[in-house]
Amino acid sequence: MNNKELILQKSKFALYENHPNKDNIDWLHMDKDTYLAMEKEFCEDAIFFEPLIIENFYSDEEFLELKNFISGLSLSQIAYTKQMNKWEDQIGLPQKFIDIAIAKVKEILGTDDVELGYYLYAHHQMTKEGRQPFLQVHLDWSPGTYMVDLHVGGNRDWSIVVHDKEFITKENQVVLVQPEFDFHYREPWNSDDPNMYYQALFFHLTRKNHWHKKYGIEYQVSDLFLKFQHQRLHMFQDLYLNLVDESQELPAYVLGDDSSLVSGDKDLLGVEAK
Ligand SMILES: [Fe+2]
Repeated sequence: MNNKELILQKSKFALYENHPNKDNIDWLHMDKDTYLAMEKEFCEDAIFFEPLIIENFYSDEEFLELKNFISGLSLSQIAYTKQMNKWEDQIGLPQKFIDIAIAKVKEILGTDDVELGYYLYAHHQMTKEGRQPFLQVHLDWSPGTYMVDLHVGGNRDWSIVVHDKEFITKENQVVLVQPEFDFHYREPWNSDDPNMYYQALFFHLTRKNHWHKKYGIEYQVSDLFLKFQHQRLHMFQDLYLNLVDESQELPAYVLGDDSSLVSGDKDLLGVEAK
């Protein structure tokens, strides 16, 4: 396997222990003790590593089969979300592609404690109304101790930044990241070309002791969970944006603003490209 060596680390950023100014944290959304207890649970049994590229994620034969499966899909049957201006959905992927992805991540991380949270296929292209795809700076609130971000196809690069590293991939390459722990975003789409597109497949992977196994996915919209996540952003997002602003190497970021969206905007069918 032509992979970079896995570099174990403590996730560099959005954890209390890494906060540069602990004495002056404003506990706006949640008290410190509750926060620390929840953060401990968030980290329990997780393996922390530097984000990395995995070459040749599927065999040539498997990848061709995956491409053929995806080329048989119609965008009109895939949900469109105005949250990130993309088509994104579960697509009835044959189980073997999921099994292979999990086995590969287990091997790379050296643990059997890797399970599927969920997967999504994403097609990024400008709509006929001119909506350009974007991936804003964020931490995932949905389950994702580990995420396989597979470059499936398209006719352009669309780099992803994970904490302080930018990755530009080719087809069948994966960036393995920790979306619940590391801030991430993609470079601005920056094109009015209606024919430009970028396709990806995301496997969000978790572990036995992950919160969604213990409390169910409903926990994600509970008052406690939301306070925890807002507290994390309050503590870390500005620090992260400063880090990106000061970097000479990282691309510009996009900030999300879904204040004008209604719930139906997140799950539309029948939106057209071009
Ligand atoms: Fe994410």
